Amino acid sequence: MATKFEPKILGFLCNWCSYAGADLAGVSRYQYPANLRIVRVMCSGRVEPSLILEMFIQGADGILVGGCHFGDCHYQTGNYFAEKRVKLTKKLLKRIGFEEERLRLEWISASEGERFAETIREFTKQIKEIGPSPVSGTTPNVDILKALFAAKNAVKDFRLKLLVSRELDLVMEGNVYNEKVPQEEIDTVLDAAINYELDRCSIIFEVRDEALSVDELAQRLELPPNRVLQHIVTLRDRGLVMLDRIDNDTPLYLAVEEGIK
Ligand code: FES
Repeated sequence: MATKFEPKILGFLCNWCSYAGADLAGVSRYQYPANLRIVRVMCSGRVEPSLILEMFIQGADGILVGGCHFGDCHYQTGNYFAEKRVKLTKKLLKRIGFEEERLRLEWISASEGERFAETIREFTKQIKEIGPSPVSGTTPNVDILKALFAAKNAVKDFRLKLLVSRELDLVMEGNVYNEKVPQEEIDTVLDAAINYELDRCSIIFEVRDEALSVDELAQRLELPPNRVLQHIVTLRDRGLVMLDRIDNDTPLYLAVEEGIK
């Protein structure tokens, strides 16, 4: 008989609002499923995309990030940054073919115990409908697992971090010439940066243990060879990939050990 799927849901809740909301739900005896495991953080803005991706790698079926409503953050702008970070993480998840709906962001205040319980009921139902994570259990989908590792490394890239942390200022206040940058323009730059970093991290992942040629990498990653070559040049410049040997006039590349995190 098939066992009933009980999702593992992780909740990163900010100390000042959502965690207090969860507390109120408990004290008020509002019922919600026991699938949620809570991690208390000081502010939703502290939840890094790499942490969310690591939790998905570890087999979480769903992740909830809970923070204060806009204007109520104890640290004033933490929740604005949380929104940008969750948006970036969702873009990455979508790009690698992992259901972005498994990640949810909610603003729940300390007085919204009932809303907290309702959110958990609804999210648990949604995750049950989507089904178990493709990387959980005894036979994880290796391709998606690799892609999640690549995504986790991609979000550590300085350029992506800078873009996400500056996004708010550029849209709300403008650049050094006081020109406000349209959100669509930022999204285009962000999408391009995500694609580049994901490609590069996927290449590093493929050549961790095995030296490969540009053509072999292009086939495995389903990328045009000229694009792979461009990435290899950049990765060699950054000291993350090296020439391992030349086989029949074909250069084979290998990741530099320090470059693999
Ligand atoms: S303190 Fe709650 S979101 Fe910042």
